[in-house]
Amino acid sequence: MDRIRIRGGNRLNGTIPISGAKNAALPLMIVSLLTPETLTLSNVPRLADVRLLQRILQNHGIDIMVAGKRPGQNGAAGDVMHLTAREIADTTAPYELVSKMRASFWVLGPLLARCGEARVSLPGGCAIGTRPVDMHLTAMEQLGAEIAIEGGYVIARARKGLKGAHIRFDKVSVGATHAALMAAVLADGDTVIENAAAEPEIGDVAECLVKMGARIEGIHSTELRIRGVTSLSGATHSVIPDRIETGTYAMCAGMAGGDVLLKDANAGHLGAVIDVMRQAGIDVDVVNEGVRIHRNGAALRPVTVDTAPFPGFPTDCQAQLMALMTMATGTSTIRETIFENRFMHVQELARLGADIHLHGDTAEVRGVRKLTGAQVMATDLRASVSLVIAGLAAAGETMINRVYHLDRGFETLEEKLSACGADVTRISG
Ligand code: UD1
Repeated sequence: MDRIRIRGGNRLNGTIPISGAKNAALPLMIVSLLTPETLTLSNVPRLADVRLLQRILQNHGIDIMVAGKRPGQNGAAGDVMHLTAREIADTTAPYELVSKMRASFWVLGPLLARCGEARVSLPGGCAIGTRPVDMHLTAMEQLGAEIAIEGGYVIARARKGLKGAHIRFDKVSVGATHAALMAAVLADGDTVIENAAAEPEIGDVAECLVKMGARIEGIHSTELRIRGVTSLSGATHSVIPDRIETGTYAMCAGMAGGDVLLKDANAGHLGAVIDVMRQAGIDVDVVNEGVRIHRNGAALRPVTVDTAPFPGFPTDCQAQLMALMTMATGTSTIRETIFENRFMHVQELARLGADIHLHGDTAEVRGVRKLTGAQVMATDLRASVSLVIAGLAAAGETMINRVYHLDRGFETLEEKLSACGADVTRISG
């Protein structure tokens, strides 16, 4: 297994190109199930999760062609992916594949909408909490599907097709909103999704669906109104920049100090993160090419933050913020309101000398003057990158084990950081 070694203490200066958003690319790839024509996606990040979803979609019979890098194209540009689901060969998404990546469960809605049936493995356990799928299933039932659970699989049927419905979610779920939206676009009649998640990735999917001929109003709001159509066509769509990757490198630069341009970042998707960084004493400038982060000697100030659905502070940046606050000049309070058990990074940060106390859903982070490098273990995607942030400021050597978690969501992390002067090396296992 690969490991990442960081020798802390270097400031970061330079440019980090921001890749396409993993959490937009995955549902956009799934959207291709809805049309027999070709969906062409550009700016697709090169990530383990994308490759895994390719395998899952190929299993349903989708033809996928990834255009190689063209001469002169710089390494940061994402892939161009052509996906064609002329016919759906198989409506089963097997346990062996779905259990490796939760988002693959989202094929349920489009398969039902296109084929009137789907058999999708329940995603199973997850390191950051129980993460049920009850809201996905209720939404499909409201759209007229019959749902049964047999042998760990969701068996969904809508023999006469899906029917428009009024869906009101009790809580905000990104995945359930994607599922309801992708199913409703081909349902017969009108659908309203109330209390929809308004994350930018959902807006990106909705905009792509509109290019394909879907009729959707209220895009980027918490109420989506959809008028079902009988078929969708192909389209060409570019994946939005990754706001979580942006927030992560912003915190890397804030932690290490220096001056870094996050090229192609979309500041409009990052309001809450930018506010918190400024409160912490880090300079953030929104510029034409992206977002510029700089900190030259100023102390890091503690902050009080609750995670929340968009436009609140994203849970996917919580671990990274905690790493940053380990070296603030006082006590920060970070409350996780989206997922239970999303504090696995706390024990690992403590190995580097962080002083963090957990009280239920709240972490009290007492800033320390010094972190010291140690062996640590990546436990999930965002937790592992928080260890990178801490390692950038820790004295001596930090060795991060099990970095396959990082490869699920961060494209060439060690190259992007090294190019700005960090001492980060991948050691192949
Ligand atoms: C997506 C993101 C993930 C992010 C999360 C919250 C992708 C691929 N993943 O995950 O990176 O951390 O949004 O922003 O985009 N819930 C239920 N029942 C359900 C569905 C969800 O109770 O049927 C709960 C979850 O347990 C959680 C909360 O709702 O407590 C939010 O989860 P959700 O927004 O659905 O997360 P994901 O879509 O899995």
